[in-house]
Amino acid sequence: MRTKRILSGIRTTGPLHLGHYFGALRNWVELQNSDEYECFFLLADIQALTTHFDRVAEMQTSMCEVALDFLAVGLDPGKSHFVLQSQVPELAELTMYFSMFTTLKSLQNNPTIKDELKKQKEVYYGFVGYPVSQAADILLFTTTPPRLGEKLLVPVGQDQVPHLESTRCTAQKFNSLYGETFVIPDTLIGEIPRLPGLDMQKMGKSADNAIFLKDDPDSIRKKVMSAFTDPKKIRADDPGHPDGCAIFQYYTALAPELMQDVETKCIAGELGCVADKKRLSEILIDFLNPIRERRQHFEKNPDIVNQAIRKGTERAREIAAITMKAVRSAMNIDYLDIFKT
Ligand code: TRP
Repeated sequence: MRTKRILSGIRTTGPLHLGHYFGALRNWVELQNSDEYECFFLLADIQALTTHFDRVAEMQTSMCEVALDFLAVGLDPGKSHFVLQSQVPELAELTMYFSMFTTLKSLQNNPTIKDELKKQKEVYYGFVGYPVSQAADILLFTTTPPRLGEKLLVPVGQDQVPHLESTRCTAQKFNSLYGETFVIPDTLIGEIPRLPGLDMQKMGKSADNAIFLKDDPDSIRKKVMSAFTDPKKIRADDPGHPDGCAIFQYYTALAPELMQDVETKCIAGELGCVADKKRLSEILIDFLNPIRERRQHFEKNPDIVNQAIRKGTERAREIAAITMKAVRSAMNIDYLDIFKT
């Protein structure tokens, strides 16, 4: 039995984009294929509710989009467990216990939460508290007895690092309050932790600046043409500044072998933005074609997808039962027939 586990997840608020791929998914597939870990990938539909609680009609479609994207990029249900968060009720229970000793201040100081709150009109309890639920997502898989010493790696993009820090604190706090129960998880950050959106802002599903993994060649060409480039480079032979250019950042991810050439020619004024964008569009199309084809294959085979989610979620619940037993016993709440007969 493998003693090392991988756990990561994505909020199911819509189809996944290139930022997800280079920040997380690519790494997940590699770790899965190393055959060293038992891997769990969470379809975080409860966490999606923190921002979409008033749009539940969209939720099932969004969950399906993410599940298809998982399969499309090469996550393999034969090797990895796909876990549907809402169908593991133990996660809600564990979140509740953790919330007792989590300070509001620590949540309000979380840089990712701070950043995300800027876009919201109200401060919702569930939203500010989602790092607590994320700690439960992660720590549920670090069962100690009878497997003390088990390692848990959490491969994520840069924006998730504060949540991982807070998860580690939660584990330490629980252990010091109630005795050694959880293993402290390790964070693993991808090689390209943050790929900018077409406008150089953070790539986001709702920000209208994303290239989705399911985008077809025409929309890819259109989107790339509209991308932000160096505003000082007006004519093709003006010298450019690749650092502030979204297209150049995409080369780093998609075709690092061309980077040097693009950089030198752009700076020297030998490469116009239109030509550059055309070349990048074709690279991107070649890259996304097989992913889109695999996605279509699974779209036509819903049984495979259902089965993958069912099987993965069942495995998660097996582990959840073991973890919750340890948690309740550590917290002294494992009684029902407490009165002596
Ligand atoms: N916060 C992640 C996102 O925004 C989703 C997530 C939920 C997650 N639970 C997790 C990531 C556990 C890593 C580990 O997509």
